[in-house]
Amino acid sequence: MLDRRAFLTAGGASLAMLGRDTPVRAQGATVRRRSIRGMSMNDPDLAAMRRAVARMKALPQSDPRNWLRFADIHRNFCPHANWYFLPWHRAYILAFERICQELSGKPDFALPYWNWTADRQFPAAFAAGDRNSNPLFHPRPGVVSGLRLPDDMVGPAVMSQIMSSPDFEAFGSTRPAGQNSTAASWQRRPGAATAFEFNPHNGVHQAIGGNMAVIALSSRDPIFFLHHCNVDRIWTAWNRRGNANSPEPMWRDFAFSGNFVDGAGSPWNVGVGQLNSPAALGYRYDDDEGPFAADLVRADSDLMTEKLHAYRRMESRALNVPGHGAGLHRIELPSGGAIYAAAAENEQVASRDRPIGISVPLGRPLGEILGPYALAFRPDRPDVKKYRRYVWAALRGIEPPLDATTRLRVFVNCHELSPRTRLSDPSYANSVSFFGGAHAGHGEAVAGGSSVYVDLTHTLARLDHPRSLRADRLTVQLLPSCSNSDANVSNVRPRRVELVIL
Ligand code: C2O
Repeated sequence: MLDRRAFLTAGGASLAMLGRDTPVRAQGATVRRRSIRGMSMNDPDLAAMRRAVARMKALPQSDPRNWLRFADIHRNFCPHANWYFLPWHRAYILAFERICQELSGKPDFALPYWNWTADRQFPAAFAAGDRNSNPLFHPRPGVVSGLRLPDDMVGPAVMSQIMSSPDFEAFGSTRPAGQNSTAASWQRRPGAATAFEFNPHNGVHQAIGGNMAVIALSSRDPIFFLHHCNVDRIWTAWNRRGNANSPEPMWRDFAFSGNFVDGAGSPWNVGVGQLNSPAALGYRYDDDEGPFAADLVRADSDLMTEKLHAYRRMESRALNVPGHGAGLHRIELPSGGAIYAAAAENEQVASRDRPIGISVPLGRPLGEILGPYALAFRPDRPDVKKYRRYVWAALRGIEPPLDATTRLRVFVNCHELSPRTRLSDPSYANSVSFFGGAHAGHGEAVAGGSSVYVDLTHTLARLDHPRSLRADRLTVQLLPSCSNSDANVSNVRPRRVELVIL
């Protein structure tokens, strides 16, 4: 029996010892996943993907690699808005890549990725022709009239903020509230989505529309795999910038059992700890460079690491921050540091012509709580733009809007927020897109509304002037935006806003 800790420390090296449950590419070769940008229509990987998808569509229902059956794996098992989101989708697209290697006759097939930050238009190879002539074609309402993904969804500023997430749960969504074991039932329990998931990930699903906009059906559209390949590439890039994945046993020791099949269609069980690094899984990205830090262990003496760790642990205990009027809650840490939290309940409904502001009372000025130079970058990490303090707003119990294409614009301390306020306003923080919703068939995951964490740090740093930091409250403002002009279809109401100051 392999000692778990020894396995974790050794990382990928001991993967081969795990035997049958972990198919390691027989040839030991690593395939190189390339950007679809600039690929010719008859690029060998694109041609292989067309052959494989055509064969999957033609397979009988009895074969688990049948196109619709394989898509149902996503419907039945995909975790969203929790910390299994990234590793689960890594395994799912890897299973798809292996099936393509098997069925296309190209054993070194590498799944292309769609880098939507560089390439805002929809990849032509997936839109060309029709259902009969092109296996990658799919009806997509958002694409027919020409897709142009906006900066506030996939632009460089959005992406660089995501890349500066201080820990895995800030980057790849948080653990399910109250999680206390690795029982399979936690796989789809809700945590909170963070920006990577709720903005570019959800946003691109919505912008494409059709099946892609619905969790239960999205992987019936072949572009799903290129979208998630890019999500996976960005995760890899975040690791390459020196960021470790979660060290928590509840993350690393979690197993996806009975979810996936391998290239031959046989069951493939895989643990999150085995999904840490692409190299061990037989693929790499064409833009990979620099060290890889998925298994990096950070020094315990780092105060921010201690705060993050303590705060995450609080979420495991589902500790509730006192509600409205209770003011600021100070949580002492053994080292002498402290985390602050405050919350406000909300009854107001935000609509496209009437934004709402939810004021969270702090009892004393924010600037005083944060201390001097708090929103300056950490001098020891000028390369990655880590802040010395973080201010997050958790929006809890969000009832998703009827029109799921709604983008919920989040501002902070804006003096005259109106539907005309521009996203270039310094008080703008982020935009939330919704994925799933009432028709998603996503089981228990969204009962009681969903949660998101919006990082306000960069906005407060930009607003770093007396009026915002001297006030003894912080106002989180919400403005839904939607091209559907029907009344009320873009209404959004979060039940509660929690403020966390790390
Ligand atoms: Cu589980 Cu982007 O989907």
